[in-house]
Amino acid sequence: MSVVIRSIAAHVPEQRVSNDDLALRLDTSDEWIRSHTGIGARHFAPDGVLTSDMAASAALAALEKAKISPKNLDLIVVASATPDYFGFPATACVVQDKIGAHGCAAFDVTAGCTGFIYALNIAASMLEAGKGRNALVIGAETLSRITDWNDRASCVLFGDGAGAAVLSRIDEPGRGCLSFILGADGSGVKDLYLVQTPRIATFTRETPINASISMNGKNVYEFAVKAITVLIERIMHATAYKLEDFAWIVPHQANARIVQAAGKRFGIPEKKFYMNIDEYANTSSASIPIALAEMESKGLLKQGDLVMLLGFGSGLTYGAGVIRW
Ligand code: ACO
Repeated sequence: MSVVIRSIAAHVPEQRVSNDDLALRLDTSDEWIRSHTGIGARHFAPDGVLTSDMAASAALAALEKAKISPKNLDLIVVASATPDYFGFPATACVVQDKIGAHGCAAFDVTAGCTGFIYALNIAASMLEAGKGRNALVIGAETLSRITDWNDRASCVLFGDGAGAAVLSRIDEPGRGCLSFILGADGSGVKDLYLVQTPRIATFTRETPINASISMNGKNVYEFAVKAITVLIERIMHATAYKLEDFAWIVPHQANARIVQAAGKRFGIPEKKFYMNIDEYANTSSASIPIALAEMESKGLLKQGDLVMLLGFGSGLTYGAGVIRW
């Protein structure tokens, strides 16, 4: 018995904002952004388009590819740092309604940019435990809505988008989701968090909640390089696979320099890492499924390929997954 990723699809909004476009409004430049992050552009959702809209669009495309009706889903898990609603209800419930999958379990996972790996591990474990046959795992973000446009060190980093994977339990051992490692270091909570003003509206005073990203870039950078390094070592140890066994390493697309630093440490050739940060910037929990969907559409993922997923993000969380495609 295995839990496989049966299909994967993405939805990226059309509006493309290049570094030069940003430089028209901010004190920055294409040269600075590219050389410090590897980012060339990002895509922003139009006004009125919610995280659940992009999630539902990616989900329907993935379901169509998998030839599975929404009615045959047993579970929907959405990973997002930018849910439709503050607190509740879960964006997964909104998506369930939008795609017509009424009745199945639906909930969200909050694990920052590691959210997709957390959600994948949870859904795969539930299917393995016999809690259903088909699951939808989604990473979706509208980060442009919580970006602090007065902070040039962070506002250039983020983009919007969604990716969705259909997971199915099948009777073929040795395929699909083989191994996961999840972790967190809560002492870094304030290195990357959503500032909410005011934190809670009082009984007598109703004030709208404004939220924006606060990031200690240096701390996050150091944490991310360390997290990737430790995850690669732990995955090798846990699975006994060697680096050369992997066809691809698909890291969270936060900063090309973070990945290059980890690659150097292990002598991993740069071409083994799939990177598309140049076009989409950091889409948090959506970055890994968007990358996988793009790789699949380019024919880069062959059946039997061993793929390592690496994530790190707010929390500070980190996680890795090994998938036999
Ligand atoms: N354009 C031009 N100049 C800038 C910009 C910008 N957008 N942002 C910062 N600078 C300037 C600074 O003001 C500073 O100028 P100064 O020397 O005159 O004071 C100079 O560039 C260097 O600033 P640093 O903050 O030291 O730049 P650094 O090389 O550390 O890069 C960065 C900043 C890119 C944010 C880096 O710290 C980083 O990548 N951190 C990781 C953060 C990350 O990936 N976050 C993503 C979200 S988290 C996640 O996904 C896990």
